[in-house]
Order: sequence, then C-alpha cells, then structure tokens
Amino acid sequence: MSERGQQPLWGGRFGDSPAEAFERINASIPFDIRLAPYDIRGSIAHARMLGQQGIISPDESRTLVLGLEAMLGEVQAGNFSWTLADEDVHTAVERRLRELVGDAALKLHTGRSRNDQVALDLHLFCREAAEGIRNGVLEAMWALVDVAEAHKDLILPGYTHLQRAQPLLLAHHLMAHFAALRRDLVRLEAAQAAATVSPLGAAALGGTPHPVDPVVTAEDLGMEPFTNSLDAVSDRDFALDLLYACAVLGVHLSRLGEEWVLWTSQEFAFAELDDAYSSGSSIMPQKKNPDAYELMRGKSGRLIGDLNALLVTLKGLPLGYSKDLQEDKEPLFDAVDAVLSMLAVLPEMLRTARFEGARMKEAAGGFALATELADFLAARGVPFREAHRAVGALVRRCEELRLPLEEVPREELAAAHPALDEIPEGLLTPEGSLANKRSPGSSSPRSVGLQLEEARRFLAAAT
Ligand code: ARG
Repeated sequence: MSERGQQPLWGGRFGDSPAEAFERINASIPFDIRLAPYDIRGSIAHARMLGQQGIISPDESRTLVLGLEAMLGEVQAGNFSWTLADEDVHTAVERRLRELVGDAALKLHTGRSRNDQVALDLHLFCREAAEGIRNGVLEAMWALVDVAEAHKDLILPGYTHLQRAQPLLLAHHLMAHFAALRRDLVRLEAAQAAATVSPLGAAALGGTPHPVDPVVTAEDLGMEPFTNSLDAVSDRDFALDLLYACAVLGVHLSRLGEEWVLWTSQEFAFAELDDAYSSGSSIMPQKKNPDAYELMRGKSGRLIGDLNALLVTLKGLPLGYSKDLQEDKEPLFDAVDAVLSMLAVLPEMLRTARFEGARMKEAAGGFALATELADFLAARGVPFREAHRAVGALVRRCEELRLPLEEVPREELAAAHPALDEIPEGLLTPEGSLANKRSPGSSSPRSVGLQLEEARRFLAAAT
C-alpha cells in the first residue's frame, strides 16, 4: 500500500489505494530516479514557459522555478529522498516541490503529461550520455596515438584466420583500432543530434488547449521542437540510436580486448599489462589475468542485448504511450554505464602496458615474409599466380628442410624460381617487407607516419 496520505498522481478516479505487488511492478522510481536532474531541468523550462505565455502568473512561475532550483541542489548533494509510493521520478519531483513551495506546485503540470515529460527526460539523458561517451572515446583515441608513436618501430605479425600473415607495424595495428573508434564518434554524434529534440508541449499525445509554446521550451533547453505530438510521445528512435552506437563501440572494444587477451597470453607473450590493470588467481599464484580486456568482450554481449531489448519492446507497439515504454530505461542506463566503465579503464591500461618487441618481431619473420617473394617475382613480370605457386612450393621445401624462409640457401631459391636468386639484401626481413610497401594507407613506416600526423590533427580539432 502507498505511504499513508500519499495518493498516486492519478488517484482521483480511484476508490482504493494500489495493492503492494501492483505498486512494486508499476513503480519506475528505483531506476528512473537517475533522471531527476533532467526532470527538474525540463520542469524549470516548462514553468518559465507557462509564466511567459500567461498560463500561470509571473509570481507563480517564479515560485515554481525557485523551488525546482532548490530541488536540483538537493539532488546534486545527494539529499533527495524517495519512496516506492512516489511511483516515478516525475511524481517524486512534484511531491517534493509541493513540500518546498506549497500549493503553487499543483499548477506545474498544466499543459503537460508524464508522456511528453518522460520523453523529454530521456532525450536530455541521451544527449548528455552521448557527449560523455564521445569524450571517453576521444581519450581512448589519444591513448592509441600516443602508444603507437611511443613504439613506432615495433613490428608484429598481422594475422588472417589467426595464422601469421604479414609483418605489420604495431603502430599500424593500433591505428586500425583508432579508425574504428573514429567511426564510433560519427555514430555518437548522430545519436546526440537525434536526442536534441524536445517533446515538451506534446502533452499526453494530441497536444493541449493551453497556449503552450514548444519552441520556447525547446530553445530554453538548447533543442529543436517536435513536429508531431503523437510521434513526440511515441518515439524512442533516439534511444535506439545511442544503444546502437554503444553496441558497435562495444564490439570494437571487444575485438581490441580479445587481441590483448591473446597478446598477453604466454603463447603469444607480445605484451604485459601493468599490475594495476590485471588480477591474480585465488589458487594459482603465478597467474596474471587480463580481466578488464575480458570484460570488454563480456560486456559487449550485454550491449547487444540492451539494443535488442529496446528494439523488441518497441516492435509492434501502437503509437501513443503504453507502459511497455517504461522498460526503455534500464537497458539504456545499463549500456551507458557499461560503455563508460570500459572507456574509463582503457586509456591508462593501454599507456602502461609493456611490449616484448623482440618476440613480436621474431613472430613477424619466417613464412610471414612469403608474400614478399611472390610480390618480388610479380614486379619482375612473372604473372602473380605463377609467382604464388613458385613461392608456395618453396615454403613446402623449407618445411621439409626445417628452415625458416630467411635462411633458405640461394640454390633453393633459384630452384623455386630463377628470378628469386636476385632477391635484394634485406627484403626478406620484417623491416624490409614493411619498407617495401608503397600503397596508400599501408603499414609502411611512411604511411603510418602520415596516419599518425593526420590522427593528431583530427584529435586536436575534435577535443
Ligand atoms: N514512469 C513512466 C515511464 O517511465 C512515466 C510515464 C507514465 N505515463 C503514463 N501515462 N502512465 O514511462
């Protein structure tokens, strides 16, 4: 049962108080209390507009705004209390406003519904969350550039099918992740733009007879006004946009995380995490685990689930508010929190890691240089297919002789293909292979240098 004396907002029509179990399933206050700052901010804009439009008196408007500002202070100080009887954050704010300013509070809801109110709160939340995540992504991008530059000469094997493929500069590899994060910024900016629309003034679904001005409230909040009141209260696309941006970002972080899990394994042993970013085992004293990177893999699954949850909630929902829409909040909050927790740990974890350059380079030699031989022959006019077959046979021969490609005797090279005898000194090394790359955007030191310069310019302009 509700706290004695507190009627739900909609209590007028009802003879009895809600049952406790109903109250529990119906209440969103345990999680939507998080929207309090946005709810109050939106209510301030609404109260100002009501005064400006003559819907309430200037005095009443001022009283409401002062009360709401005081309440914002309470929320920020962590002094705002609620009970289940408050049902949701909107009720809690109205209840507290009445405690603070008296019966003037009863006029705040004129020309407004919880339907446009909650849609506004969520827009404000998404706009701010997108900004916070964007800043976190930029920090991670700075870290990638710094680490790439600090280890400019390190070489590791690039993989296809998780088989050693060709040598890559570590910096090139890190900048590949940079490129993915850069696309995440575009998605986050689009999500932020979609969230910058104010539904206030749509009221329950069809507008209101009061002369409210949605443009005034939208401008007050730095937003665009809605165009259709029914769409304004039904639309959650902006939340989907942010969830999608989070899910893709999560997938990117999980791919990076998986690589670090491999790199820090004893099988690869390419890198070691700083102690501050790894955990041990409660039973195996030797263990040093890359938990945060594993959690990036793990949490990305949740992010995909959060996006799915809201998509499925919206699918088939008729226009206009249905209580199903209350289910939009938890996946959204969960996704934003998960993404922010990953971005909070990533930059320093990258910066403080150590690389085993010698081991990485060793793994980048051997058969990872075979394409170099085929390309050498092709540049000499040998059709590439023929060159590929000749070098393939040579690799097989090396395996028989149990020799790495770099140590194969000249006569074996010549036997594979006469032109291979003329292989220039140094080409059959990881460095030689990289220096030999000419195509734009390649892993050559020159191309990677250009990528890093461009990345720094981009970040300086974006930050
Ligand atoms: N707690 C509700 C939500 O989160 C607020 C909107 C309630 N609107 C309504 N018509 N009951 O969606």
